[in-house]
Amino acid sequence: MRIRELRGIDDLTVSFPYPVSVLAGPNGCGKSTILFACACAYQDPDPERKPRRLTPGIVFPDFIDKNDQSACDMSIETELEFDYLHKKSAHGMTYIRGGGWDRSYGGRKKGQQPQRRFYLRTLANLTNPAEVRSFLQLARQQTQIQRLPTSSLSFAQGILLQDYQHLKIIRAKNRDLLFVDLRNQTPTQITPKYSEFHMSSGERAILYLSKDLSEFEESFILIDEIEAGLHPYAQQQVMLELQRMALRQKLQVIVTSHSPVVLYSVPLEGRIFLDRDIETNKVQVMPNYRDIFQKALYGQSLNKLSILCEDKIAEAIVRGVLDEIIPDLDLYPGDFIIDRDTGISEFPGHVRTLGKFSRLGNFLMVLDGDATTEQINTIKRSAKQYPDSMELLTLPDSVASEQWIWNVLKNHANDYSGDLGIDARNLKRSMANIENRYRQGLDHRQIPKDTLQYLAQDLSKEPESLARLCGRLEAKFKRGDMAEFRSRLLEQIERWRTRSQ
Ligand SMILES: Nc1ncnc2c1ncn2[C@@H]1O[C@H](COP(=O)(O)OP(=O)(O)OP(=O)(O)O)[C@@H](O)[C@H]1O
Ligand SMILES: [Mg+2]
Repeated sequence: MRIRELRGIDDLTVSFPYPVSVLAGPNGCGKSTILFACACAYQDPDPERKPRRLTPGIVFPDFIDKNDQSACDMSIETELEFDYLHKKSAHGMTYIRGGGWDRSYGGRKKGQQPQRRFYLRTLANLTNPAEVRSFLQLARQQTQIQRLPTSSLSFAQGILLQDYQHLKIIRAKNRDLLFVDLRNQTPTQITPKYSEFHMSSGERAILYLSKDLSEFEESFILIDEIEAGLHPYAQQQVMLELQRMALRQKLQVIVTSHSPVVLYSVPLEGRIFLDRDIETNKVQVMPNYRDIFQKALYGQSLNKLSILCEDKIAEAIVRGVLDEIIPDLDLYPGDFIIDRDTGISEFPGHVRTLGKFSRLGNFLMVLDGDATTEQINTIKRSAKQYPDSMELLTLPDSVASEQWIWNVLKNHANDYSGDLGIDARNLKRSMANIENRYRQGLDHRQIPKDTLQYLAQDLSKEPESLARLCGRLEAKFKRGDMAEFRSRLLEQIERWRTRSQ
């Protein structure tokens, strides 16, 4: 779906590759906006009622005061564009706001919108006392009671801890009311039963979802703030049930949430993390939000030291150094979160995101040895505007990590032969062979990466395990620049430890 010019969203494309997607991000970053826009994608051929369509005008109503223009919602040229994978629809639909909302499907004005049953739930069902009273008055007039099939309880049963027997619906004139019977715990007991007015708020929400969702097949389910009123255990179960249901009933589900439990309950491709760009204030989908950031932004790594490296190899070197120094520190590997990102150019952006949420203090950035002063300064500058100080280390020797490993193995083959299970002479010979092969190599930038890959293959190891071994042994021997790296890393760990106590 593409949204242009709506509620501070400039131009945003979001896709939903996983059957259950979670929209996450700070308040006001556009989660509900995207969810409501999704609700305009289909026409609902509800078999019991007449076909239902939600237009952008309904989900995004404008307040307009004809007498006083100073407090009117702005009507700008908004555009919503949908591409469908469902039923392999070849056409896309567009809504454009001119005077009203104009729809075109497959290029044809007012063309028929694709049909699919959908469900949109936002917060709050019958909450305030005035509503309750008006319902009770209605109910006195005429009601109809319907016992729902047991399938309507199956969703709730896996989530709520009560033992439900029947779910009923009391249909009044224009409002439905839920009613449940619990199962008897002892044969002599009177069956406990109660109406919606006596349900807990989480219980009511789940029972409604359970009833509603049991009816849908191949449908499109949209739920805003799914965790509202739910205990973390229930949140997790709801998400598990939703994923099961999505498979069984061929549903596509999109929810918004602030809860880490909900976010982590779906795999990476189901997580859509939104944020507003710090400089432009435009909403964007954050690419590649790695675990290390998600944990930091959701408060799950507050008492840990997060170490961010440039790539897998650098991460493995750091892990090796930690393998060597942690045992003397009375710390556990679990006290650290170590991760990597796609490269140095992404670091200033990460620093700003972490700074914005006051998370820089628990972070340590580790750059490759060949980072330039300019790159380092750019990263440092991006941290300046935040009160937390940012700590940054560079790996030993001013070379790429792969090159550093290569040099270390070549210069100290004797120290490594034991751990690698290869005679030092053979190790050197194998390295010389690979070097010779590469003398004719064309792309010089790739050479250290490829040579390490070849060497790892010769030794039947992964490049990362070579890197980790070099990190550990060089830290042990405190050789060259590694001595300095090791002591600065220790300093940073101490600094973090004192701060977090
Ligand atoms: N005309 C407008 N121009 C600029 N920004 C706007 C305009 N109208 C609304 N907004 C912004 O859009 C945001 C509404 O976004 P939305 O309701 O999607 O947020 P959300 O991510 O669901 O947040 P929450 O977690 O608080 O529910 C508001 O924060 C508001 O600042
Ligand atoms: Mg919202």
